[in-house]
Amino acid sequence: MKELIYLDNAATSWPKPEIVYQMIDHYNRRLGGSPYRGSSSKTLEAGGVLLDTREALAALFHFTDVSRLIFTKNITEAINTVLKGYLKPGDHIIISSMEHNAVVRPLSKLKNSGVEISIADCAADGSLDPYEVEKAWRTNTCMVCLTAASNVTGTIMPVREVGQLCRNKGAVFMVDSAQSAGIIPLDIGEQNIDVLTFTGHKSLFGPQGTGGFYIRPGLDIDSLLEGGTGSFSEEMVQPDFSPDKYESGTPNTPGIAGLGAGVSFIMRKGLAAIRNHELELMDRMVDGLRQIQGVTIHGPVDNRQRTAVLSLNLAGLECGELGFLLENNFGIVTRSGLHCAPLAHRTIGTLHQGTCRISLSYFSTREQIETFLNGMLRLSKGG
Ligand SMILES: Cc1ncc(COP(=O)(O)O)c(C=O)c1O
Repeated sequence: MKELIYLDNAATSWPKPEIVYQMIDHYNRRLGGSPYRGSSSKTLEAGGVLLDTREALAALFHFTDVSRLIFTKNITEAINTVLKGYLKPGDHIIISSMEHNAVVRPLSKLKNSGVEISIADCAADGSLDPYEVEKAWRTNTCMVCLTAASNVTGTIMPVREVGQLCRNKGAVFMVDSAQSAGIIPLDIGEQNIDVLTFTGHKSLFGPQGTGGFYIRPGLDIDSLLEGGTGSFSEEMVQPDFSPDKYESGTPNTPGIAGLGAGVSFIMRKGLAAIRNHELELMDRMVDGLRQIQGVTIHGPVDNRQRTAVLSLNLAGLECGELGFLLENNFGIVTRSGLHCAPLAHRTIGTLHQGTCRISLSYFSTREQIETFLNGMLRLSKGG
């Protein structure tokens, strides 16, 4: 059977760097201990794996205190922990109109208990004018949450500017880096980020079941789960220090070993090399798509304003049909629909129809893009 061409890296990246598979296998076969549970050599090795990955993420996101890095099973859990652990009835939060349901749904629930939410409008290409955030400010605004890049259009958001605004006005700034970590530079200090949430299995090249968040020292966020941490076991109450406060239950240590390998791979290649490779492919893809009749490309006109994520529609085909035909006829895997981000689709005007999303990675190739363009050309001609 012909190998599939995988262009759905915004959902989860595939393939991973070889070293990621090797590290997970190595952990499972050779190490295998439970971190922080006792003092056996196996336990210490497992703790070392967690520390290595915390250090790799600290280097990527530019912070020093690795105890502020908490592991969760994905970014959804990280975002839920922060929103539910920080916001109280009567508090006000501002989000952009390009946010994912991982942000929107927990907030809809919090709204029922008296948390107030404002949505800063983005333009039809997904871009955000920081003034829209300022306009939405109220006296009780205590948090702003922004995705660093849209999962629908790839639009890169003004993280630094919004971070500065939050710093000036004294609100907590939380960033959703699901579609940007490992692709564009994220710098906690320079961008005034108080909370950086991440998922391991997308552009960080880790396996599914890994993610987490960084919280600035001094910021008080309640835990979502309580339980065994391996520390202060004589106490009946949860430890009050990071990361133990937030890391109850045995973590996904094999997965975190793989995530550490993924982040180290990124650091070795360099963000600029990864970004340049993806941009080169995006330029070719967008050039090619512009020659095909009936194609509507959503999002920024300039590829420098987006990550390697692109939403499109083809006249005469529903997006689901388009995705099906791309895979069935040409072996190309994409994702069609609303991408768990109805608010973003409402913003760009595609809520009623959805889009077919093409998302690349460092492992995407020029040949794959040519095959995709040929497929799109054939489909535009009805074949
Ligand atoms: C911007 C954004 N935020 C959050 C998520 C949720 O990620 P996960 O399913 O890994 O928790 C996604 C996944 O598509 C995303 O693109």
